[in-house]
Amino acid sequence: MLELTMHLPGQVAIDTLAIPVCEDADIHDSPVIQQLVSKAVSLEEFSGKARESLTLYDLPETDIHRAVFFGLGKQADIKTEDLRIFSGKIVNKCISAGLDQVELVVPTPRWVGLEPAMVVRTMAEGAVLANHVFDYYKDLRDKKPLKKIRLLVKPTDYQLYGDMMSQIVRICRATHLARNWVNIPANDKRPEHFAEILMEAGNKAGLKTRLLDTLRLERMGCGAILAVAGGSQSPARMVVMEHFPNRKSAATVVLVGKGVTFDSGGLHLKGSQNLQGMKADMAGAATVAATMTVLPGMELGLNVVGIMPLVENMPSGTALRTGDVIRTFSGKSVEVANTDAEGRLILADAIGYGLKTYDPVVIIDLATLTGACVVALGEKMAAVFTHDRELEKAIFQAGQDTFERCWPMPLPEDYKEYLKSNIADICNLPSTRYGGAITAALFLKEFAGNSSWAHIDIAGPAFAKKGSAYCGPGGTGFGVRLLWQVLKKLAVSLG
Ligand code: BES
Ligand code: MN
Ligand code: ZN
Repeated sequence: MLELTMHLPGQVAIDTLAIPVCEDADIHDSPVIQQLVSKAVSLEEFSGKARESLTLYDLPETDIHRAVFFGLGKQADIKTEDLRIFSGKIVNKCISAGLDQVELVVPTPRWVGLEPAMVVRTMAEGAVLANHVFDYYKDLRDKKPLKKIRLLVKPTDYQLYGDMMSQIVRICRATHLARNWVNIPANDKRPEHFAEILMEAGNKAGLKTRLLDTLRLERMGCGAILAVAGGSQSPARMVVMEHFPNRKSAATVVLVGKGVTFDSGGLHLKGSQNLQGMKADMAGAATVAATMTVLPGMELGLNVVGIMPLVENMPSGTALRTGDVIRTFSGKSVEVANTDAEGRLILADAIGYGLKTYDPVVIIDLATLTGACVVALGEKMAAVFTHDRELEKAIFQAGQDTFERCWPMPLPEDYKEYLKSNIADICNLPSTRYGGAITAALFLKEFAGNSSWAHIDIAGPAFAKKGSAYCGPGGTGFGVRLLWQVLKKLAVSLG
């Protein structure tokens, strides 16, 4: 689907060639491309300003059927994200036009002032990420993903980056998978069913998978997961995926993803505005599971475990009540003062289980945990909470690399007093309405023991009402590329 090519226009016939252009500098060192660009900018309507575009047809001297020029603005301002956006927009344009292939000209890295591998990588990422439509419920006959995307590079880069392409495709396809799962409506992914979907994906990928049902969860003492699921007609499940390429190596990383297939709030029923989009409350689980599926065959040299607790948070005669006290996996008791603070409850069990079962060097959880996080950082950034400064740096840096931005947040000791309960070890609802993302993280921390733990709150970026350059509306798959990047960094630092 994605491949590199080094055949310049004129050497082969090209159906659609897309060329990024700067308004103030040449960014292509190939004379053929330069000639095409000068032809475009000689016209009044195109100068290479950001987001400007121009299409020319049938350029006979080069045998190009369609040449699309796209403005990147000023050369000094180009960032790698602009290249993802370029590729994404071009691929979207081609899909909308009903085309089935495109060739993207990679600018000369030195001439755009960016690291060569990053230029090729981000161009490829933007293209593959954009090459996705969610058509489970609608026949999008005239909106099919492209069959072929080629990146035109120099012969030396052709040698260097060929292998990287298949990795990028794997990871971007996993991102599509996570998006699809988030997009599936809640009636088609209730815990029993979603568990099967995840198991199938895990097995197909060659992971060792385990499906824990209600009975198992009861025996294990996962009282919080069972309590949250109590209001639903669909029983709780927990899916565990293991990738142990090297059993003797001590380093195991555990990833935990919040899997609330629909969050109605429970008896603390959400208002009509807040119910919208709550099918996406399993995005953490989707991201973790999708990330797990890329690991077999990637030779990471790390043991990685993905844990997905799956519940539906519903009000009913069997639902969790306000004031109930439940017993978690760790043995700690929790007073449930608000049934809508359910994510922290199921994560408490899953994190406890992950620690006890796998004794990981690092444990990371991803969750659409708090509305407060969206208030704090907006809809395009995740919050990172950890005491481990190295891990914080790794996650922050990975977020900069992939543009799945993660901002470090504090875990102030004294805020723990907001979680005091008179009758249980801890209360799930803080006594203040301020700093809700922080108090939620502090709640989780009580179940993470002394491990190196990080919590990533993805409530904002997991779902987007409007599409963007390389992601359609709905689930974004936020975190798949990020986690892969973090795992690579951990493999280096731990290995
Ligand atoms: N799933 C929600 C958080 C959420 C809100 C995700 C908006 C995505 C968009 C979570 O379970 C929740 O309801 N949190 C409450 C916690 C409160 C009751 C302490 C919240 O943020 O209001
Ligand atoms: Mn909730
Ligand atoms: Zn929730």
